[in-house]
Amino acid sequence: MFGLLGKKIDTAKSTLLRTALGGLIDPHNHQSFAVAGFIERAEVLGDTAEIDVVLDYPAAGYDVELTAHIEQTARTIDGVKTVKTTIAFVSPIGSRQQGKPVPGVRNIIAVASGKGGVGKSTTSVNLALALAAEGARVGLLDADIYGPSQPLMLGTKATPTVRDDRSMQPIMAYGLQTMSIGYLVDDKQAMVWRGPMATSALMQLLNDTRWDDLDYLIVDMPPGTGDIQLTLAQKVPVAGSVIVTTPQDIALLDARKAISMFEKVNVPVIGIVENMAMHICSNCGQVEPIFGTGGGQKLAHEYFVELLGSLPLDLAIRRDLDEGKPTVVRSPDSPITQSYRETARKMAAILGRMVRGSDDLDGPNIIVEEGDGDAGD
Ligand SMILES: Nc1ncnc2c1ncn2[C@@H]1O[C@H](COP(=O)(O)OP(=O)(O)O)[C@@H](O)[C@H]1O
Ligand SMILES: [Mg+2]
Repeated sequence: MFGLLGKKIDTAKSTLLRTALGGLIDPHNHQSFAVAGFIERAEVLGDTAEIDVVLDYPAAGYDVELTAHIEQTARTIDGVKTVKTTIAFVSPIGSRQQGKPVPGVRNIIAVASGKGGVGKSTTSVNLALALAAEGARVGLLDADIYGPSQPLMLGTKATPTVRDDRSMQPIMAYGLQTMSIGYLVDDKQAMVWRGPMATSALMQLLNDTRWDDLDYLIVDMPPGTGDIQLTLAQKVPVAGSVIVTTPQDIALLDARKAISMFEKVNVPVIGIVENMAMHICSNCGQVEPIFGTGGGQKLAHEYFVELLGSLPLDLAIRRDLDEGKPTVVRSPDSPITQSYRETARKMAAILGRMVRGSDDLDGPNIIVEEGDGDAGD
């Protein structure tokens, strides 16, 4: 066999190379590259290793580090001097989606919380932008009918163009395709809508928007776990959900309700994002856990789901949104943006893992608690 440049492929060394690379552990989905199936091609030709990697999550912020790991690994093969690596991303298609698929959308991720004010919209916007920065095509649907906040947070005031077939063009904001009830009606109008009206308005927003070839559509769900939320969780073909919580106990109780709601309708929980987890003093840099520590981690353990990230309570996060320029676009090199991007990569990577079905998160996400029904425990 001969490679692209006419050099002979060393099959024995290529096998060694594949084995070595297959043992690399992905830091975002915690699987080996072999199990995840990320190695598309790995060949040794003379003193050169040629490696093509295809990830199922976008990782622009990680590929330099990954390339270094790969090259280091390849050089452990006797005689390899040069390493040529390519890293690509292909998003999965959520196989477990229930309901009618939405044209132009490969994966819908619902961002939910048990109650309002925990930073659900803040997290949705920044995670959507972070996913885009990592290299995905991303949309953002503001499904918070009673409190649409995306137009403000994204600094967009446009009204969507309605086409002949009554479909709407999404509003572009910082590279995201966005849609919000806030673009169409004023706040007071939506406030008086009752449950079924709100639900049908949302389904229209979802289905009548011309999403263009999205890897991910982030849906900022209405807060709470009532009828509207349950209906939406059922009707929207969600591939996975993300629960936003603050470390406060009361918020955690609400987060538990949100997790149970998704379990009830068989939507897998990708993980938890802890918001306002700690405060970093802008004068002295001291880290202060205002709402307590470890809440998100505890909740994640309890439900066998991942803690995707912890975001600090930080003045810049609020200020940037108030000014219509979210932190991820305003300060692309800040530690906060790095946190959002790492959280976004984990979210997409774990969704990929769930869609592939190669772990025990597959199937209805019902977890039997340890010691359940064991009276003497
Ligand atoms: N990590 C954070 N640091 C500082 N302010 C935040 C943070 N997260 C959210 N906020 C602010 O808290 C308020 C509520 O956040 P929002 O995202 O609108 O909550 P929700 O959508 O859950 O109701 C907003 O003013 C927002 O700017
Ligand atoms: Mg909100």
